[in-house]
Amino acid sequence: MPTLVIVGSQWGDEGKGKITDYLAEKAEVVVRYQGGNNAGHTVEKDGTQYKLHLVPSGILYPEKICIIGNGVVLDPGSLIDEINTLKEQGVSVENLKISDRAHIVLPYHIKLDELEEVAKGKNDIGTTKRGIGPCYMDKSERIGIRVCDLLKPEVFKNKLKLNVEKKNKIFREVYDAGELNFEEIYEKYSRYASIIKSYVVDTTSLLYDLIKDGKKVLFEGAQGTLLDIDLGTYPYVTASHPISGGVTVGAGVGPTMINDVIGVVKAYTTRVGKGPFPTELFDDYGNFLREKGHEYGTTTGRPRRCGWLDAVILSFSVKVSGIRTFALTKLDTLTGLDKIKICTGYRFNGEIIKDFPASLEDLAMCEPIYEEFDGWNENISNIRKFQDLPLNAQKYVKRIEELTGINASIISVGPGREETIVREELMS
Ligand code: IMP
Repeated sequence: MPTLVIVGSQWGDEGKGKITDYLAEKAEVVVRYQGGNNAGHTVEKDGTQYKLHLVPSGILYPEKICIIGNGVVLDPGSLIDEINTLKEQGVSVENLKISDRAHIVLPYHIKLDELEEVAKGKNDIGTTKRGIGPCYMDKSERIGIRVCDLLKPEVFKNKLKLNVEKKNKIFREVYDAGELNFEEIYEKYSRYASIIKSYVVDTTSLLYDLIKDGKKVLFEGAQGTLLDIDLGTYPYVTASHPISGGVTVGAGVGPTMINDVIGVVKAYTTRVGKGPFPTELFDDYGNFLREKGHEYGTTTGRPRRCGWLDAVILSFSVKVSGIRTFALTKLDTLTGLDKIKICTGYRFNGEIIKDFPASLEDLAMCEPIYEEFDGWNENISNIRKFQDLPLNAQKYVKRIEELTGINASIISVGPGREETIVREELMS
């Protein structure tokens, strides 16, 4: 049962796209298990750029089965746009499978997301405004509309009617905002239903059979550990479970069927949205990382907050996702810095702590304790063996491994697929 989970080990945007694409080539099945079109990554293949938000990365290989699991919240309009763009680019989507249990993002979720962010004022979360949180809220409230409901006109009509009435009351009475029109949504989404229908299956049974058949399955996480609704920097989190455990509920796969977990770690830290970030840099080093690393959101275009690598965060991710190995990305972004730092612990209330705190008030008071390293100036993008890296780069990587107890099996030294140092073959 060669199954592998890819998780983001920081606040998302770790460069999972490239690593997923690299591993997807070896996999036979690629599965998304949480989140929605709040995620986004760009994959380059044969000189063409593909922007993916909902469709799993394996789609660029016609023979791979790509599954959107039940834990994903699906905006059908956005998915159809993505499918059409892929088709225009010559990509076949015949092997795309959508779970009949996935929840649907509706226009009132997007409107609520926007209104709630505005209402929160300076305490806003900085969401992607894709309706993700409100859709998961409806799921928990047990009034959500699933793909299987969308495909049944009468069921869909009844559920939608109740929801639109309820949401319009909220828009009117809580937010003093305009209402949405039931008929318009019903017609538009009925059209969407007829387009996505052919992709919809019971993905849980399909996946069980594929795993039992010994197929190589890659579970593609979106976002990152610190955006997990339970284990992340709550409330500045997304509404799903990006940790590896999210696979069990979000794809309907039992824990005994998961063999391996790789954590993607960017060589420095970034985050979008609000919330405390102990190693954040407000100086030229931060600007250097943002510009050299092109740290602007794929989904929203927002500039990302940048800072030094934080080993406290990585150790936390290792624990909560059972990470066995790392893929270290964007090491090349650090080239040209005179010094580089790693945070090894926090000074909090006069003590040194190594565990990532739950309380955001505590986290905001944590002062990072740094170890400083000399940088390197050599171009490392054409290096394919670890021992050929400049000694200072080797020292940096080895120290990350020592601090976390986890080896980096993949080191990315550039955006291109071939710009990769592979120290251990995975999924083989
Ligand atoms: P939401 O997922 O749109 O509800 O946003 C909640 C938080 O998660 C915000 O801070 C977003 O910026 C963040 N977030 C959501 N998706 C991503 C992602 O793919 N990368 C990084 N941050 C994300």
